[in-house]
Amino acid sequence: MSNNEMDSNSPYSAVVAGTGSCLPEKLLTNEELTKIVDTSDEWIVTRTGIKTRHIASPQETTATLAAEAAKRAIASAGISAEDIDMIVLATITPEMVFPSTACFVQDIIGAKNAWAFDISAACSGFVYAVSIAQQFIQSGKYNNILVIGAETLSKITDYKDRGSCILFGDGAGAAIIQKADAKKAKGIIYSTSVSDGSGWESLNCPAYGSRYPADKPLEDANGIYMQINGREIYQLAVRRIVEMVNECLEKCSLSIEDVSLFIPHQMNARIIESVAKRLKFADEQVFMNIEKFGNTSAASIPIALDEAVRTNRLKRGDIALLVAFGGGLTWGANVIEY
Ligand code: UT7
Repeated sequence: MSNNEMDSNSPYSAVVAGTGSCLPEKLLTNEELTKIVDTSDEWIVTRTGIKTRHIASPQETTATLAAEAAKRAIASAGISAEDIDMIVLATITPEMVFPSTACFVQDIIGAKNAWAFDISAACSGFVYAVSIAQQFIQSGKYNNILVIGAETLSKITDYKDRGSCILFGDGAGAAIIQKADAKKAKGIIYSTSVSDGSGWESLNCPAYGSRYPADKPLEDANGIYMQINGREIYQLAVRRIVEMVNECLEKCSLSIEDVSLFIPHQMNARIIESVAKRLKFADEQVFMNIEKFGNTSAASIPIALDEAVRTNRLKRGDIALLVAFGGGLTWGANVIEY
């Protein structure tokens, strides 16, 4: 069910060498949503903390957003696309059923020496991808791994359902995970990844896979959209995130005060505030940008990480704690000395 990784014996560390992100230009405001469903700016802000989300244009796809975020991460790491050995892309809104969105990205950016694949772990996708990259770097096999979280959730959002359509946005974030000398840089100190498939019904999008193929009528026509049991996810998320933070601190012999920046998946400002209060994080330790972007699933943490780096909220030597919870059910965390 769970998998914890901390390879302190490896001579190699896996460091975050660069980050990048890409958001579509088009904004969807709360005011605009009030014209589509029975809601209000006041309800959305009070219950979720969200004011705007970015929405992909017809020309923007998961792969184009991901490729742009990747190019920015590559530039920020000071490497070239040909230096990349592997691409791991986390998404629940892939370009097509197959090939993988990662393969589209490989082609767009010209990472001709990389092998590329997608992972499906919903909101936990990026932290899962980072833990996969950590393993391939610390084994000594690769030098540069491109990890991406990218989503166009607007394509599977039911804009007739006021309980969910107010939450989601589109975007992509990326990071270059690079091999370093463990004596000189710590990089990713610890990762934990957990799944509980028995909770799949709380958060899913049933069409169009093997169970409900495109050529068979759906039992419920809304099955082409995300189905969420918001209240259940809310409670589970708070509990699991608190547990994971405590696990990370214990395994790494760190205290809450040692964490320079807590970067949780941006799913609901109230969830983040509740977690922060229980763990006694000071406000300045908690990164939140949900107000601008809503919940972008796998893209949310790398977009936040990139913003934290660009705005100097996260500096070299700082400890960042990345934590996510989402569909699967899945949850996971990475402790990183940036
Ligand atoms: O990243 C993983 C995916 N994310 C999630 O699964 C989201 C996690 N859950 C949440 O963020 C929150 O549960 C929501 C934002 C989805 C809902 O907030 P809540 O405080 O749990 O509200 P609720 O579902 O308990 O609904 C309270 C009331 C209901 O009315 P009644 O039954 O009390 O009369 C809803 O019908 O609010 C109503 N409501 C709305 N009212 C205005 C639900 N959505 C809206 C809306 N505008 N958009």
